[in-house]
Amino acid sequence: MAYANLIVETRDHVGLVKLNRPDALNALNQDLLTELGEALAKFDADDKIRCIVLTGSAKAFAAGADIKEMSDKTAPEMFKLDFFAEGCRAIERTRTPIIAAVAGYALGGGCELAMLCDFILAADTAKFGQPEINLGVIPGMGGTQRLTLAVGKAKAMEMCLSGRFMTAEEAERSGLVSRVIPADKLLDEALAVAAKIADKSPLATMAAKEAVNRAFETNLTEGVMFERRLFHGLFASEDQKEGMAAFIEKREPQFRGR
Ligand code: CAA
Repeated sequence: MAYANLIVETRDHVGLVKLNRPDALNALNQDLLTELGEALAKFDADDKIRCIVLTGSAKAFAAGADIKEMSDKTAPEMFKLDFFAEGCRAIERTRTPIIAAVAGYALGGGCELAMLCDFILAADTAKFGQPEINLGVIPGMGGTQRLTLAVGKAKAMEMCLSGRFMTAEEAERSGLVSRVIPADKLLDEALAVAAKIADKSPLATMAAKEAVNRAFETNLTEGVMFERRLFHGLFASEDQKEGMAAFIEKREPQFRGR
């Protein structure tokens, strides 16, 4: 299916979604977020797709919510227009792991979009920020919460109050991104990591994703119990038998998602 604001491809078991509004630095408007939700839902429903890479251009992952689309809106209109929240929910409900491959600007909603993904690989050109304060507003897609959880109060507060950007290097040091990669190698590396994840049991990767995410929603005792139940449940899968048999027989496992 063709999208107006996305380029969507598959590479074996990996789904690739490129944000594609070059004239607006991939600013997130209603159409783009709706299309993104559709593309992710399609990949999630496709058993062949076991990992997703979400990326932008060399200049911008996404420069935030579309300011031109928002500027004249009233509060009731924003309240009724649920597309920012629906865009977040579309990513949150995606059970297939999603890697954000971020080069250039990831600002405002762009930074929030990257943080909604399961982890971020950053090009050395990446710049992260929540500059909404410069527009007389605050982050509206979870930035005050997810950035604080990722980098702690001091840096999140400074960024949200002053609009200061973080470089890729600082973002790695602060725990916002998992790794920094030379810009010209970012997509290849993200696809290679995604292919590696796609080789695992999809049942186990989904369970791992749910369990890690639970750490943000609950206390340690409940989180560990949740993990333990998922761990036990995986012993009902053929993939667990295959994975452990392959280890013992010194061969590569063939996971089938059963
Ligand atoms: N919305 C709409 N259009 C945007 C945009 C945005 N967030 N960011 C960039 N653009 C457009 C510019 O208007 C410009 O379009 P025109 O050529 O038609 O004028 C084009 O993209 C290129 O941008 P610049 O000329 O500004 O490029 P630059 O290299 O000089 O600057 C930048 C790059 C620093 C990222 C600058 O574009 C910028 O500051 N963008 C806005 C960043 C921002 O404030 N983001 C937060 C948005 S609010 C939000 O996201 C709310 C939320 O949490 C949900």
